[in-house]
Amino acid sequence: MILTKNVTKYFGGFQALKDVSFEINKGEIVGFLGQNGAGKTTLMRILTSYLPATSGEVIIGGDDVVENSLAVRRKIGYLPETPPLYSNMSVKDYLKFAAQMKDVPGKQQHKQIDRVLEECNIGDVKNKTIDNLSKGYRQRVGIAQAIINEPEVLILDEPTSGLDPVQNLQVRKLIKSLRHERTVILSTHILSEIEQIAQRVLIIKSGQIIVDESLDLLLKSQNGESTLEDVFIRLHSNTAESIDE
Ligand SMILES: Nc1ncnc2c1ncn2[C@@H]1O[C@H](COP(=O)(O)OP(=O)(O)O)[C@@H](O)[C@H]1O
Ligand SMILES: [Mg+2]
Repeated sequence: MILTKNVTKYFGGFQALKDVSFEINKGEIVGFLGQNGAGKTTLMRILTSYLPATSGEVIIGGDDVVENSLAVRRKIGYLPETPPLYSNMSVKDYLKFAAQMKDVPGKQQHKQIDRVLEECNIGDVKNKTIDNLSKGYRQRVGIAQAIINEPEVLILDEPTSGLDPVQNLQVRKLIKSLRHERTVILSTHILSEIEQIAQRVLIIKSGQIIVDESLDLLLKSQNGESTLEDVFIRLHSNTAESIDE
């Protein structure tokens, strides 16, 4: 479903991604885990065709993200790190706008809006202005716009960042309910989130993938002595030391 081959990204002289390769099958839920600045957002922007890689290749459902970017965008629902919410619009108007932007046929727009209002549990605020919503609701509206065209692939960049524990739980529950039949990639720097939502983890450190493993296997390989947190801290121990010095 998603094929990423030797992707490298430079910003000027700075190498943000180094030779990143992986494959994700249909229906997998994959967590990108890494510290701030590891390269998660950059990788997601390349996968969604919003940013060109310096070199390497990404194919989504048979389409190259550079050559067939329109086809790719149609297949993907994307929640960026800072969702483009038009704050003075009502939730309903915003979702209608999103449906139009994504070429949802006029006749289906109403049905799709009702579907995402229900799936994301935001029907009660449909007539409210986005500005007046709590961060938890706003994030769910962001997810609603991402799934308005029933995409096969859902890419969520730090979907729970900045949420309080209750909002966090609601968004995690929502993501779990959306994963059926879909391929989902989410990024986070919160370890427990990966354990709760994903089946597979890609740990990214300084632009490189240092672990690509199913969660079950990763934790089993530690002889049951470690949690994902132990693994993560061990993999970053050099970094931690250099920060301490
Ligand atoms: N547009 C850009 N120009 C220059 N540097 C960038 C740009 N975007 C990201 N970077 C740098 O690339 C690195 C990875 O950033 P990012 O992908 O946002 O990491 P993450 O999402 O894991 O926190 C960081 O060092 C960041 O400063
Ligand atoms: Mg980021």
